[in-house]
Amino acid sequence: MATNRTFTMIKPDAVANGHIGAILNDIIAGGFKIVAMKYIQLSQEDAGAFYAVHKERPFYADLVSFMTSGPIVAVILEKDNAVEDFRTLIGATNPADAAEGTIRNKYAVSIDANAVHGSDSDENAQIEGNFFFSYFERF
Ligand code: TYD
Repeated sequence: MATNRTFTMIKPDAVANGHIGAILNDIIAGGFKIVAMKYIQLSQEDAGAFYAVHKERPFYADLVSFMTSGPIVAVILEKDNAVEDFRTLIGATNPADAAEGTIRNKYAVSIDANAVHGSDSDENAQIEGNFFFSYFERF
């Protein structure tokens, strides 16, 4: 298992608000290397499966609906200690709690429209990357 990789999505709010370039710039400036990237729109089925772990949570239906509301950018990133360092770079789930200068602090709209996803473990980083990219799409 590649423990130096993480997975992110630039979510529909950040894409719609024109932040793709600025967010990728912050990610690269943070020392991450892009190893795979695609610009796509998720179906209800895709988003439902990706967030299946949250199926019983009260926000699940709204989350799936939001994540299918417009295109997203899916990205696999590489860096030493990628998962933890990326969670630091993006900040807390709720942008109101996200540290100054973090991606969610700068670009997120609300706790649901929070600009970016970041894997929460090495295992999930690999599962999530595999969800979006086939073997030959990952450098
Ligand atoms: P979670 O895994 O708790 O946060 P993170 O993305 O920081 O790992 O939740 C997944 C997503 O679910 C989160 O990015 C936005 C959405 N969400 C809500 O819409 N409302 C909520 O109260 C929570 C906790 C999450």
